[in-house]
Amino acid sequence: MIEVRDLVKHYGDVRAVDGVSFVCPNGQVTGLLGPNGAGKTTTLRMICGLIRPMRGTVVVDGHDVKKDPSSVRRSLGVQTDSAGVYPRLTPREHLRYYGGFYGLSGNELERRIDEIIEILGMDEFADRRAQGFSRGQRQKVILGRALVHNPNNIIMDEPTSGLDVMAVRETRSMIRTLSDKGHCVLFTTHYMDEAARLCDKIAIIIRGRIAAFGSPQQLMEETGRNSLEDAFVQLAGGEEGLLVSGHSGNDGSNDHPAAASGQDQPERESVGADAGMGRR
Ligand SMILES: Nc1ncnc2c1ncn2[C@@H]1O[C@H](COP(=O)(O)OP(=O)(O)OP(=O)(O)O)[C@@H](O)[C@H]1O
Ligand SMILES: [Mg+2]
Repeated sequence: MIEVRDLVKHYGDVRAVDGVSFVCPNGQVTGLLGPNGAGKTTTLRMICGLIRPMRGTVVVDGHDVKKDPSSVRRSLGVQTDSAGVYPRLTPREHLRYYGGFYGLSGNELERRIDEIIEILGMDEFADRRAQGFSRGQRQKVILGRALVHNPNNIIMDEPTSGLDVMAVRETRSMIRTLSDKGHCVLFTTHYMDEAARLCDKIAIIIRGRIAAFGSPQQLMEETGRNSLEDAFVQLAGGEEGLLVSGHSGNDGSNDHPAAASGQDQPERESVGADAGMGRR
């Protein structure tokens, strides 16, 4: 279970995350939805301990990420975009490395690696160096290493973006399977049909704040719309609201001098060996 309470992170005038609270229970898929720049990735980074919130707490399976990062690390699997795959290592070697990092070894580790390779359909390229891998293949490596230690909580940032139809289907069915097995899954997506089908609960984040939280059905009922996409657009301030989704503390402008001037490296507090979230 992941509990997020009153998280705040500002970058200069940009209120990237501005008092976000929600709970993701075990056995459920929670979707974090919002326009570009709404604060989704920043929220996930704070949950993983990759950046320090200015305020607020994150508790994972009862462990505070600030006070007990190593317990959080063990119970959290993080998959983000497909950067951070080592070109010289094969997928199997990646899994071995990350499994070792989480304290697995010997037969137990090898069994788990075989299992992951099978679940993710990586047989054909499991022993090929990652150099030149397609986006979907890299995505699977990242997902595999997020799952190798069988974490209770799984966090994914746009896991299906850029994948082919088969990989999208596999990823979606895996998300469902994980939650059916009792895991807590939190993920972001820009695909409303995907969110409607997969999510038990959806948190809609707009300009760093939670604009709505509930099941897809509840969000549609609340807004009086009959599709999640229409409900989302309404909650985001209508069609025009989506176009000005960038935000700052004062004038709503989407210019972030801090990002342009190289202050965009996340402060790593290292919950994972390389949780892969330093993408900007
Ligand atoms: N390191 C940083 N330095 C400056 N600004 C940042 C930094 N990281 C994020 N921001 C800003 O914070 C806001 C939220 O960014 P974030 O990446 O969390 O959005 P997002 O919801 O994940 O968007 P997307 O859907 O495009 O991935 C944006 O305005 C972004 O420019
Ligand atoms: Mg993002």
